[in-house]
Amino acid sequence: MNFEFQNPTKIIFGAGTIARLGEVVSEYGKKAMIVTGGGSVKRTGAFDKAVESLKSAGLAYVECTDVEPNPRITSVARGAKIAKDEGCDVIIALGGGSTMDAAKVMGAAALYDGNPWDMILHGQEEVYIPTETLPVITVPTLAATGSEANCGAVITNDETKIKSFIQIPLLFPKVALVDPELTVSVPQNHSAYGVCDIITHVMEGYFNGVDGTPIQDRFAEGVIINAIEYGRKAVANDENLEARAHVQWASIVALNGWVQAGVHMLAPMHMIEHALSAHHDLTHGAGLAIVGPAWMRFAAKYRPERFAQFAQRVFGLSSEGKDALTLGMEGIDAYETFLREIGCPTTLSEVNITGELFEQYAKDAALVVRDEDGKLLGRPPMTTEDIVEVLK
Ligand code: NZQ
Ligand code: ZN
Repeated sequence: MNFEFQNPTKIIFGAGTIARLGEVVSEYGKKAMIVTGGGSVKRTGAFDKAVESLKSAGLAYVECTDVEPNPRITSVARGAKIAKDEGCDVIIALGGGSTMDAAKVMGAAALYDGNPWDMILHGQEEVYIPTETLPVITVPTLAATGSEANCGAVITNDETKIKSFIQIPLLFPKVALVDPELTVSVPQNHSAYGVCDIITHVMEGYFNGVDGTPIQDRFAEGVIINAIEYGRKAVANDENLEARAHVQWASIVALNGWVQAGVHMLAPMHMIEHALSAHHDLTHGAGLAIVGPAWMRFAAKYRPERFAQFAQRVFGLSSEGKDALTLGMEGIDAYETFLREIGCPTTLSEVNITGELFEQYAKDAALVVRDEDGKLLGRPPMTTEDIVEVLK
């Protein structure tokens, strides 16, 4: 195992911590831009709490509202302009993964005169790699992406229907102020999609990483087992703050780099899902609930022992009298049953996606993370036909 690991984001975690926003932000600037989504934070009172804390610390703020789910590059450009024109010296991302991702790229785009799409990997010949950014403080209101404490951001170009990412250390938020109380208002469906996203983040490394990572395997299994246990409780009762807190922490641990250290993770389920949500504006976690089990059934044939281990350790299934592939497939069935139980869709027809563009999604999925032959990287690498087979 060879790896480097560094995650510089300071995490302040706990119910009520949003009251500390002013204190945290004042370490980084005097005038903040608060980035928000479609209005949930105004309805839930999270925005008022944030503003109260900023005011009591004597800080000024402007707003960038209406970042859409599956955030668009046009919103990033709009936010960067506001930050520039208003002379903001710090950015606060108050919302779900979409808001946080957009805010992270706005931070770098505010100090760049070109088109922020230059920074997002989309097969261009020359990628612009930003070297400076405004400091970003994340305040997540939905447990899913882990964006609050990682250096990735996923942005959509609506004109080209490409959804892709930037992942560079510069984009680590300075502080993640994580108040699980802010997530009790997340509706049941989005809570469930978030749980699926969390689980898929560690699964990508578990099933697509290198061999010989026993400690990381156990971390991943632990995250999945806890996400299932507390995810189920959070979906059943939105007000269950204990469950909300454990799911929120799982979302951070699942994608802050720790579980992935040494694993050399690839993410084919994500790449296929991003192609779908670029075209159909599907919620990311719902797309993963559809792609995940289908991809697993495809990949299990190539690596049955790994899937058998998953079935045994995560779902406690017995290996007695079964070969590895049979046991592995039972584990995938158990996972799919869980997804359905919490209310995730598991077929494309449930989200009204038909087969017409399957070839296109397959090509888009392999646009960036591919080998020399153009195959989507993963275990195994996938041809266009393989991806179409999974989608079917
Ligand atoms: O927009 P608002 O009004 O805020 O409503 C949102 C949105 O409709 C709502 N919501 C959020 N917090 C709420 C709430 N509703 C009630 N109460 C609250 N406390 O939930 C809806 C979904 O929000 P969104 O931010 O889109 O969801 P999520 O956190 O799942 O983020 C998804 C985006 O993140 C990307 C996805 O591709 C997608 O674009 N990802 C980012 C990653 C990263 N940065 O590391 C990794 C992921 O794999 C993922 O690709
Ligand atoms: Zn994800």
